[in-house]
Parts: sequence; structure tokens; C-alpha cells
Amino acid sequence: MTRVFSGIQPTGDLQLGNYLGAVRHWVEVQETADAIFCVVDLHALTFAQDPALFRAATIRKATELMAAGLDPDRCTIFVQSHVPAHAELAWLMECTAAFGELRRMTQFKEKSEGQDSVSAGVFAYPCLMAADILLYDTDEVPVGEDQRQHLELTRDLALRWNSRYGDTFVIPKPVIAGVAARVMDLQEPTAKMSKSRPNPQGRIDALDPPAEITRKIKRAVTDADGEVRYDRAAKPGVSNLLELLAVARNVSPQSAADHYSQYGPLKTDTAEAVVELLRPFQERFAALSGDPGYVREVLAKGAGKATAIAETVLRRARESIGLVPR
Ligand code: TYM
Repeated sequence: MTRVFSGIQPTGDLQLGNYLGAVRHWVEVQETADAIFCVVDLHALTFAQDPALFRAATIRKATELMAAGLDPDRCTIFVQSHVPAHAELAWLMECTAAFGELRRMTQFKEKSEGQDSVSAGVFAYPCLMAADILLYDTDEVPVGEDQRQHLELTRDLALRWNSRYGDTFVIPKPVIAGVAARVMDLQEPTAKMSKSRPNPQGRIDALDPPAEITRKIKRAVTDADGEVRYDRAAKPGVSNLLELLAVARNVSPQSAADHYSQYGPLKTDTAEAVVELLRPFQERFAALSGDPGYVREVLAKGAGKATAIAETVLRRARESIGLVPR
């Protein structure tokens, strides 16, 4: 059976980019693969967090994943810090990666540029991510487009290790969807939609009330030429709306475009489609958030299953690099 692994940071509400670029594919793949999903709390610590809010955010993210349709009977859901093997293998990855290749990471450049001080964790981040993936003998990693470079580094590190120390790690493949793999900001459609962008009007959170989703989409930035056409380079705003509509209706963005000659109706229909797409998620979230004890139980069980796999792979890694067995 194909082993699938992916992760999401706990901070910030689940936004439409996370949902369309990643989580909805996780919901599909849990039906056919041995799928493991992780709330990567250690990754979020690369920036200082308020401890109480952070704890709550981690539980909330797991609740959101379940509300999106991850079913603990069909997949494993756990919190990264509950499986200490992640931090241990991350160190071994840091000693395998070169300073230069980490410095070249676009996300490191984006997150460190213009900052007075960034944590060493921001720099080492991709090594922890590689550890996450390699610990589970992962075949496939479903992610949004922004994670492609991290996946390439993970493959490089695994290949390097295997050639130095003998076959230890499975070489994972990224799985990046064609449509909505990079959902763009509604106010600045040349930037990806993200929790860290300053203007919240550019982002749809999966828990936004329907009226707010509609308002944000109706105010989305388009362009002045007035033609509905799918062309991401020349018409980023319109193409982003077409992708949202296309995903919700299960058609291609090109064929979605054929039905419109004006931006107004395109926005109205896109808003309606996104509201409908998120409705089941919002209903399930409301039900689950009344039962945090259940979510914690799921995470405890998930950590147990994940630990059993991760410990086996970690043992292999420790042996191959020459650490004395404990
Ligand atoms: P994170 O938490 O930023 O995002 C979680 C997932 O959502 C996708 N995503 C998007 N997809 C399309 N359009 C967008 N605007 C958009 N914004 C976010 C991301 O590509 C991602 O798939 N480093 C990772 C977390 C991670 C991980 C891993 C992922 C840690 N370890 C191991 C896979 C495997 C991150 O920060 O994702």
C-alpha cells in the first residue's frame, strides 16, 4: 500500500489555500493509501508563540482537519511533538544538509529578509520537514506548490544519506495538484494566500461566515480589461477566481471561463460555490469543537501509531550512520 504523509502548521485558522492546495487531497487519499497526517507544532515554534494560545491552536488545527473530513478510522492524525523521533532525526538531517543549500531556500529568504533577528530554527526548518517525511517510509507527499522546493531538498538529503551510509530511506515524491495548488491572495493576486499576509481581506478562512466569504470574493482585485479568460500570468486575479470556481464545480478553469463575459457574475457564482464547498466543513467543525476530549483521544491514538513506525525507521537511521544502539 502506498504510504502518504503530509503536515500542516497549527498557527492561524485553516485558510482556503490550505484546504484546496492540500487538505482536500488528504481527504481523498485516505480512502486508498496508508495515510498519516501531522500537526507540525515544532515547525511553528520557529517564531515565538504565546504558550496558551499555541496549545489551543494545536488542538483547533486537529479539529479543523477532522472537520475537513480526515477520519481517524481511515488515517492517522497526530501532533509532531508527541513523537520525539522527529526532533532526533532532524538533527541528523541538519548534519547531512549543507549550509549553502539551506540558505538558498526561498521560504528562508522570504521569512528572514528585513528581519532584525530570526531564530536558527527558521534556517534549519527544512531539515525537520525532511525528518517528518523520511521517518514514515513515505512514498507520496501531497502538498501545495509552495512546498515543492522543500520536497526537492528532502529527496536530495535522502539520496545523499543512502549513498553515504547504504539504503536507509525511501525516496518520497511530491504530489502537487494541477488546479488550486497555489491559491492567490484576493487583494494581491500575485502573492499566495497565506495566514501571514497583512491584509485579512485577501484571505478566506475556512470558518469565515458565508456573508464574509461573499464580501471578500466580490471585492477581489481583478484587472481593467474586462475579459473573462484563464491566463495566470496576464490575468492573475481573474484566473484565481476561475480556479476557485473550477475546483468547487469539478471542471477545468478554462471551461469555467466559457460561461462568463463579465466579472460581476463570475464573482457572484464563485462566492456561492465557495460558500457551498465550505458548508459541510463549517457544520462538522461546530459539532466537533464541542468535544475536545474526543479530539485529544484521536491524537493520543495517532501518536501511538506514528511512534511505532517512526521508531523503526529512526533505529535504521541511527544504525546506518554509526550511532551505538541504545
Ligand atoms: P503550511 O502549514 O504552510 O500549509 C499546509 C499545506 O497547505 C498548502 N498551502 C497552500 N496551497 C495552495 N495555495 C495556498 N495559498 C496555500 N497555502 C498553503 C501548503 O503547500 C501545505 O501543503 N512546511 C509545511 C508543513 C510541513 C510539512 C511537513 C508538509 C512540515 N512538515 C512534511 C508536508 C510534509 C508548511 O508550512 O505548510
